[in-house]
Amino acid sequence: MNSSSTVIEVEALTKHYYSGFWRKKVQVLRGIDLTIQQGETFGLLGPNGAGKTTLIKSIVGLIRPSGGSVSLFGKDPQTTRIRANIGFLPETPSVYAYLTGYEFLQLCGQFFSLPSSTLRQRIPELLDRVKLSDTAAKKQIRTYSKGMMQRLGFAQALINNPQLLLLDEPMSGLDPLGRYDVKELVLELKQEGKTILFNSHILSDIEAICDRVGLLVDGRIVLESPIEQLLHPLDNLYHIVVRKLDSVGQNNIKRLSLRCVEQHKGQIEATFNSLDTALKGIAVARQSGGVLLELKTHRRGLEEIFVEQVNKAREENA
Ligand SMILES: Nc1ncnc2c1ncn2[C@@H]1O[C@H](COP(=O)(O)OP(=O)(O)O)[C@@H](O)[C@H]1O
Ligand SMILES: [Mg+2]
Repeated sequence: MNSSSTVIEVEALTKHYYSGFWRKKVQVLRGIDLTIQQGETFGLLGPNGAGKTTLIKSIVGLIRPSGGSVSLFGKDPQTTRIRANIGFLPETPSVYAYLTGYEFLQLCGQFFSLPSSTLRQRIPELLDRVKLSDTAAKKQIRTYSKGMMQRLGFAQALINNPQLLLLDEPMSGLDPLGRYDVKELVLELKQEGKTILFNSHILSDIEAICDRVGLLVDGRIVLESPIEQLLHPLDNLYHIVVRKLDSVGQNNIKRLSLRCVEQHKGQIEATFNSLDTALKGIAVARQSGGVLLELKTHRRGLEEIFVEQVNKAREENA
C-alpha cells in the first residue's frame, strides 16, 4: 500500500542490539507496521524504554533497522533529497556548546546547502517563531537553560522548511509556559499542512494536538487509532475512595478494578470501567471493613486508556 499521499511507511521493522560485556541480545523493536499520511499529526505513546526513540531514529534514517523497511515519501530515507524534506528534534540534542545559538542555526542551514541570503532572512524568523530572543541567540549554547535548548532545537528542526517533522519529546523539561508555546507551535505547523510525528509523556497535549495515536509497548504497537474514536464522550469511568481497608480487601479490589492506588495506609483510590463493577468494589470493601469516602464518575481520558492498555499488553506478553 503506497499511495501518493503516504509520507511515512514502516513495514515489519525490527531492531536489536547486542549489549554489555556478554553481548546479550536486546530486542527493541519487534515488527512495527505504521503508515502516516500527508498532513497527519501522529502521537506516539509508550512507557519509558518502549522503543519510541529507536523507532523515530529508524524513521529519520539515523539507525539502521535489523529487519523490515522504512520509506519516506515513497523513497529510502537515506537519500539526500528526502533528508532535505525532514526536520528532526532529537530527545537529547547534542549541540556545539561553544557556538552561539545563531551560529549553530547557520551551521545547520549550511548542512542543507541553504544560501546565506536565505539564512539571513530565515534565522531571525525562526528565532521569533520559537520565541528565542536576539540577545539569547548571541549567547553561547553552553549558557542555555533546558527550555532555551529545546527552543533552539525546534528552530534547528525547521531550518530547511521541511514537509515532515519528527519530534522526540518536544515538551520534555519545559515549564508550563514553555509547554504552551511548543503546543501552539505544533498546532501552527499542523495548520500549515506539515506531517508531524511526535511523542510526549504529557497525554493531555497529545489529546489536544494529534489526529491519531499509536501506543508502543515493549517494541510492539499494541493500539493504533484516530483520537476521536479512542475518546468516546459516553465512555465513563467510575472512581471510589475507600478508607480503613485491610490487605485482603485491597487485593480483592485490585482484581476488580482497572487501577488501584494506595493513597496512604489503609486508604485506596480505585477506578472501574462500569458502574456495576464499581458497586461490586464497594460491596467487597464493606465486607473487609472499608468505609466509602467518595464515588464519582468521569470521562475516560487518554491517560486511563494508556494505563489500561499498557497493563493488558504486559500481561499478555508475560
Ligand atoms: N544503543 C543501544 N544499545 C543497547 N540498547 C539500547 C540502545 N539504544 C536503546 N537501547 C535499549 O532499547 C530500549 C528502548 O529504548 P528507547 O528507544 O530509547 O525507548 P523510549 O524512547 O521509548 O524510552 C531500552 O531498553 C534501551 O535500553
Ligand atoms: Mg525516548
